[in-house]
Amino acid sequence: MLSLDLPKWYDLHTHFRQGPSMAAYIKAHLEMGCAGVIAMPNTKPPVSLISGPGNERAWSIEHYMEMVRQAGGDAFQCLIVPLYLTKDTSPSLIDEGSASGLLRACKYYPPHGTTNSEHGVPMSKWIGSAVFKRLEETETVLCIHGEQHGLPGESYLGSKTSAEAQFYREFMPRLLDAHPDLRIVCEHVTSKEAVAFVQSAGERVAATVTPQHLLYTLGHLIQGLRYHLYCLPIVKFEEDRLALREAVTAKGQRQFFAGTDSAPHTSKATECGCAAGCYVGGCAPQLYAMAFEASGVDLASDTGRGAFQRFLCDNGPSFYGLQTRDERFLLERAPGKSRILETEEGRIVPLPVGMDLALSWRISI
Ligand code: NCD
Ligand code: ZN
Repeated sequence: MLSLDLPKWYDLHTHFRQGPSMAAYIKAHLEMGCAGVIAMPNTKPPVSLISGPGNERAWSIEHYMEMVRQAGGDAFQCLIVPLYLTKDTSPSLIDEGSASGLLRACKYYPPHGTTNSEHGVPMSKWIGSAVFKRLEETETVLCIHGEQHGLPGESYLGSKTSAEAQFYREFMPRLLDAHPDLRIVCEHVTSKEAVAFVQSAGERVAATVTPQHLLYTLGHLIQGLRYHLYCLPIVKFEEDRLALREAVTAKGQRQFFAGTDSAPHTSKATECGCAAGCYVGGCAPQLYAMAFEASGVDLASDTGRGAFQRFLCDNGPSFYGLQTRDERFLLERAPGKSRILETEEGRIVPLPVGMDLALSWRISI
């Protein structure tokens, strides 16, 4: 049986939410060999302050990190919570965060563009701002959900355009020009346009890629309206999947790394729509391994294994300057089991349940 002996990995984009189910989400992450995370700040309320107890409109990084630790996250070797950029984010808040050591990253959300993103401020307002200048000076990473918001349906997604492609075309070159020292992570890239941008931008720009965007296309979502695959940015077309697969498996690449965007939703179907976010707690390394194999990588070879380890374990921590891990885990090529997560707040169905695809890898800790 093929077995990969890997250093425990970092999930550099995940969602642990708030409330009684946090412990279950965190446990599932620990059980998949995850040594550390970036826990996203689109909680209710958002994490938009640095320290102190917070209030009913805003939590602080300090307070939310404590919540994660108390729910079992103290077992992580490393925990980063980015600051949610809102209309109240000021240059002095960035200075406070940087001086305290609590602030490692900020998160840009397109207003109303995804789950709990209503506090976001448009990118056009940030470019050239004093806040972004302070990010440059304090070497705080900017994590970007790169989609143009507020578009009419026909420009939101088409065979030649998408909200993501437009955002990367229109805003990212301006952002790089205005802030030459800013370090940026393009979160969950999904399109060939975003991939090309990252590759052309050089070392100060990196990107996270999810398992679902490496494995699936829009056709998989539409065929049977398998809404567990509905996340934002939405899965795209075959040429986009190919660009992503080539980027993550490219020899020696340092810019692309794992960030699952695992996003638990206890009810996906809403009264007149669908909550955006896929859950991959418990099975992300397995899905990434399947995606590498589907891309033609031989994980039994030294080069294949090297490329996989760079993507899953090495590139992310190195971009963020995180300590290396001493613990290891095994990924074995053997039929795995998908487990539906039962929480106090409801059931959460992970990918690839319902996708006509069985896990062909399993984890052994
Ligand atoms: C995420 C969520 O549910 O919090 N949803 C998603 O579709 N990816 C938010 C996000 O990262 O966009
Ligand atoms: Zn996310």
